[in-house]
Amino acid sequence: MISNLLSRRTPGIVRGVRTPVEYDVGKAEEAYGDGWPDPFPKGWYKLAMSDELEAGADPVPVRALGHDFVMFRGANDHEVHVLDAHCPHLGAHLGIGGRVVGDNVECPFHRWQYAGKTGVCQLIHSPDGAGSAPFKPKQKTAARVRRWPTLEQYGMVMLYFDPDVNNADPTDVKQPPYQPLSIPEVDEGRFSLRYMKKPSTPLPAHLLDYMDNAGDLTHFRVFHRDIHIPVLGPLLGKLSGARRGALMGGRLEIDMFFQDYTLGTESNGGKHLSYLEQHAILRLFKKRVKGTVITTHATFCGPGSLTYMRFGWPEKNDPDTDIMVVQSLTPVKPRVLHIEYACYAHPKTPRFLLWYLTDNMDHAFQDDRWIWRTRVMRHKPHLCKNDKVMKNRHFYEQFCRPGFKCDW
Ligand code: FES
Ligand SMILES: [Fe+2]
Repeated sequence: MISNLLSRRTPGIVRGVRTPVEYDVGKAEEAYGDGWPDPFPKGWYKLAMSDELEAGADPVPVRALGHDFVMFRGANDHEVHVLDAHCPHLGAHLGIGGRVVGDNVECPFHRWQYAGKTGVCQLIHSPDGAGSAPFKPKQKTAARVRRWPTLEQYGMVMLYFDPDVNNADPTDVKQPPYQPLSIPEVDEGRFSLRYMKKPSTPLPAHLLDYMDNAGDLTHFRVFHRDIHIPVLGPLLGKLSGARRGALMGGRLEIDMFFQDYTLGTESNGGKHLSYLEQHAILRLFKKRVKGTVITTHATFCGPGSLTYMRFGWPEKNDPDTDIMVVQSLTPVKPRVLHIEYACYAHPKTPRFLLWYLTDNMDHAFQDDRWIWRTRVMRHKPHLCKNDKVMKNRHFYEQFCRPGFKCDW
């Protein structure tokens, strides 16, 4: 993840599957970027996996959420710290050429040091290079960089983003209004992180594209034509830009038919949670296959940035066969989302299944991407009876910062 956020790679020309014209993500942003609600709403976002940050290793520059951050793991406290990237002295980037000294990050320019836990300057240097206390006669207070609330949970490093909270003062750190979800099976030691999927290409989308997508049952049936489950697709799809459906050629049609679908708000978890529940069954040559009912309970924790998807096979009647996928969406730019999937499962669950599941989820987004890339924001869409997108929009609205219009 770090390298993807870091490289700020422009995917270049992504070949559209059905569009007559090819765009690159940058151009799409210029052409279609207006009128969207807050692209970086308040909430928890995943920035990295724990094993990507070694204690005492060089700090890492991260560009996401319209901000530049520096992230590092303290050599002594072994905690992950995220600070604003630029030094309050003369503005150097702490994460480019800086280093970690104990639990401080040292600026590469004049080597002032800032504590990871507070962002407060601990040490400055005189022209002869001697280190001294952070106060000089001209300074009433020590220099500070803003520190951001972070959390490490289940091998994920997460940051709470709310730039309007003035947490530059370490004595005035506001607690985030909610926490990411817990996964009871991991807490109980039954499940562990078994598989990670980190697509290298970001999604050309706004978080609201994703939330609209979840509330749009009709498109699942009409656009995705239920979800086509590729048998060879994950392999062949990598070799060719051709559409998977064409690859399957109708010879072996397996799809996931949605039997029902509920969208709601978690009643006991707080207003930052909403959910989607669906029951699906595999069909082969249009016939439902016995014993293949799959339930999905997706909990949206925050503005679409973290989705906890629980997949279950009710006919198996064994909770240890459930799979929990934490899907993270972190906006890199207003309409560019970095996506990752972290899969937690019982040791007996075949790793192949985790790969297969996440690969299929990702392929569904690949189908969505050209729609998202060229879509405009309709604040007042012309809806029909079954459209439920407004439900998710009202949910999203609560996370938007002041000044961003949500006039739907
Ligand atoms: S710019 Fe960072 S110490 Fe001078
Ligand atoms: Fe979709």
